[in-house]
Amino acid sequence: LVKKIRNIVLVGAGNVATHLGLALSNQGYHITQVYSRTKESASRLSSLLDTAFTMNITRLNYDADLYLFCLKDDAVVPFLCHSGFTDQMLVHTSGTLPLSVFQGCSKNYGVLYPVQTFSRARKLDLKRVPFCIEANNPEVLNMIEMLAKEISSHILFMDSEKRKILHLAAVFACNFTNHMYAQAERILSLNGLSFNLIKPLIMETAGKILEIDPLFAQTGPAVRGDQKILEEHERILKELPDILKLYTFVSNSIAAHRGSPEIRTDQNKTGKNE
Ligand SMILES: NC(=O)c1ccc[n+]([C@@H]2O[C@H](COP(=O)([O-])OP(=O)(O)OC[C@H]3O[C@@H](n4cnc5c(N)ncnc54)[C@H](OP(=O)(O)O)[C@@H]3O)[C@@H](O)[C@H]2O)c1
Repeated sequence: LVKKIRNIVLVGAGNVATHLGLALSNQGYHITQVYSRTKESASRLSSLLDTAFTMNITRLNYDADLYLFCLKDDAVVPFLCHSGFTDQMLVHTSGTLPLSVFQGCSKNYGVLYPVQTFSRARKLDLKRVPFCIEANNPEVLNMIEMLAKEISSHILFMDSEKRKILHLAAVFACNFTNHMYAQAERILSLNGLSFNLIKPLIMETAGKILEIDPLFAQTGPAVRGDQKILEEHERILKELPDILKLYTFVSNSIAAHRGSPEIRTDQNKTGKNE
């Protein structure tokens, strides 16, 4: 193993590969090659990073210090099956894939999971992004830590089981929330209203949980038990059966949590749910 990582091959060329590739390149790391399944993705990122690209696993450079996997999770094992790694350092960026996915492919491997949502088209300051790291030996862990510290000031050591739970929570907090935004936009545009009207509401909803526990921050007809509003909304949504199902399911979930004794006690104690 090298003492310090210098040359990196990016395995994947999507959202995460673009953000990490640019951040590492800005820190002076040399991205020597980009692999992706399609020419479109591979060439796009390679020209951003001014480096070589390939779509052919057999043409991978096998002499880099680090192989940073930013593939769709389901594509990692098939990629490994077709690759010829020996003792190269292999690191993935997935929330849920275990560290052991690399077992048998190399003697040196780890994980670098950024707890953030990445879209290629949107710039992001990585300095404040928590990175969860893990490795199969202390040397690799140390090298991943050094690398991560160059792009972020928030590094955590976390095993695969805990990381999986963190990722599950992230799916609720980020992916599901964004799906709700998309449904809100659909309802508005079907009725000739602009999504811009609810952007201040979205910003405040996200912002207030920095100060108030989300359980206490819940507002709306379901938590109040306002039956007439719930029925009226369900009547309007008859035309959109998929959203109607979602509305009823989520409203029932909110109502069920409102009823839980531990929440009632805490709300009474703090009076924060006004
Ligand atoms: N995006 C996030 O917010 C985020 C946050 C934290 C962690 N992660 C993790 O980072 C990893 C990459 O996510 P991403 O959002 O960057 O994904 P992405 O933008 O969809 O990019 C996926 C990459 O995988 C390749 N790929 C897709 N299907 C494939 C297949 N069947 N066979 C081979 N290659 C395939 C794509 O190639 P082509 O484009 O050439 O088809 C592309 O290079 C995942 O493990 C994800 O869990 C993502």
